[in-house]
Amino acid sequence: MDQYLLFVRLTTKMRGYSSKLLCLANLAIVGLIYCVISSLVYFEPQSPLCQFTSTLGNETVNEEPLAEKPIVLLWFWPFGVRFDFQICSSYFNIDGCILTDDRSLYSQAEGVIIFHKEINWHLENLPKEPRPYFQKWIWFHVESPTNTVKIPGLENLFNLTLNYRRDADITVRNEVTIKQTETKEEVVLPKKDKLVCWIVSNTDPATGTSVREKYYAELSQHIKVDVFGAFTGQRLKDEDYYPTLASCKFYLSFENSLHVDYITEKVNGPLVAGTVPVVMGPPRENYEQFLPNGSFIHVNDFPDAKGLAEFLQRLDKDHEAYMNYFEWRKYYEVTAHLLSLSNEFIHPVCLACDHISKYKDYHVVNDLYGWYFHENYSENII
Ligand SMILES: *[C@@H]1O[C@H](CO)[C@@H](O)[C@H](O)[C@H]1NC(C)=O
Ligand SMILES: *[C@@H]1O[C@H](CO)[C@@H](O)[C@H](O)[C@H]1NC(C)=O
Ligand SMILES: *[C@@H]1O[C@H](CO)[C@@H](O)[C@H](O)[C@H]1NC(C)=O
Repeated sequence: MDQYLLFVRLTTKMRGYSSKLLCLANLAIVGLIYCVISSLVYFEPQSPLCQFTSTLGNETVNEEPLAEKPIVLLWFWPFGVRFDFQICSSYFNIDGCILTDDRSLYSQAEGVIIFHKEINWHLENLPKEPRPYFQKWIWFHVESPTNTVKIPGLENLFNLTLNYRRDADITVRNEVTIKQTETKEEVVLPKKDKLVCWIVSNTDPATGTSVREKYYAELSQHIKVDVFGAFTGQRLKDEDYYPTLASCKFYLSFENSLHVDYITEKVNGPLVAGTVPVVMGPPRENYEQFLPNGSFIHVNDFPDAKGLAEFLQRLDKDHEAYMNYFEWRKYYEVTAHLLSLSNEFIHPVCLACDHISKYKDYHVVNDLYGWYFHENYSENII
């Protein structure tokens, strides 16, 4: 790996025009067809001009012939938790960049991912060296505005935003994808022995959770809700997460705060597990932009928690009506999100890697907070 990075470090110096010139020279010497074929099938070029890239030692060249993957530097490990960059290729099929946490590569990095919550108040822990002209700083933040601290000095510092919102430069979401071919068989659900479940850990009212707690308090007077998670004094183990969801007919996908596009893994989990999410978050129309209609129940569809409880009880007795909530599984599919703190932040990092490898355009984020806290955003989208 070290050797490979050295190779990249040296070849990035002759990026851009010099490599184009090399190619032109090559064209002149051995002709168009040879150049195209050799670059397509990654033969080591025979021309002396092309060959000098291989003088560093042949094993590195054989690994990635002439590939100049951009370096993307993760400046902070979110909450100090390290994860394995290999997951980008093994789980998300993304390997267009070289991810590193080695700050000595700063001056070569085309992207620097900066986790908002790790930035200190006076910005002393941000990179000190000047930013190379080709480098983009990526604002990495996946909390809703309610849970965003406005650290001063970041307003005009970044080049890209990495966030759950659709109008972010790099959007991180658990997506519903279209199946290649529809499934003809009837949907088979896991065995269920609970009616309504809720896994909840965060009950800090400062994060905006009081709305959902109030709703739960009322709902639980009318229907039995099995509650799991730190709220009950016992954290649910990662390996128990999907099986627990699967054993319930309905799951309370209540977001901690209500914001446009803030629809999280709390909905993805039940969809993956074969459980109907009962959502509380932005309005139904916003959910319908991401999820097949008929895959979820929205609390706003009912005048109050009692009305919702009665509806769930009716569905519990009407097998056919309940199964209609799974029709979408014939045409669409969802992907399990990775659990555990160490994997929570890998997906956004992989997406940033992918973006930097594909997009070479100049880009600046002006007025970061003006964008993030923009009140009219909801009117534009919904
Ligand atoms: C790589 O280098 C070694 C020693 O320098 C040499 O013996 C070998 O033939 C080289 N391999 C290729 C593929 O050029
Ligand atoms: C989605 O379903 C809801 C509730 O069943 C319904 O009111 C709404 O009109 C549907 N939306 C679309 C776009 O079909
Ligand atoms: C990145 O953003 C900074 C700050 O706005 C700007 O000075 C710089 O030119 C931008 N660079 C790129 C490559 O977009």
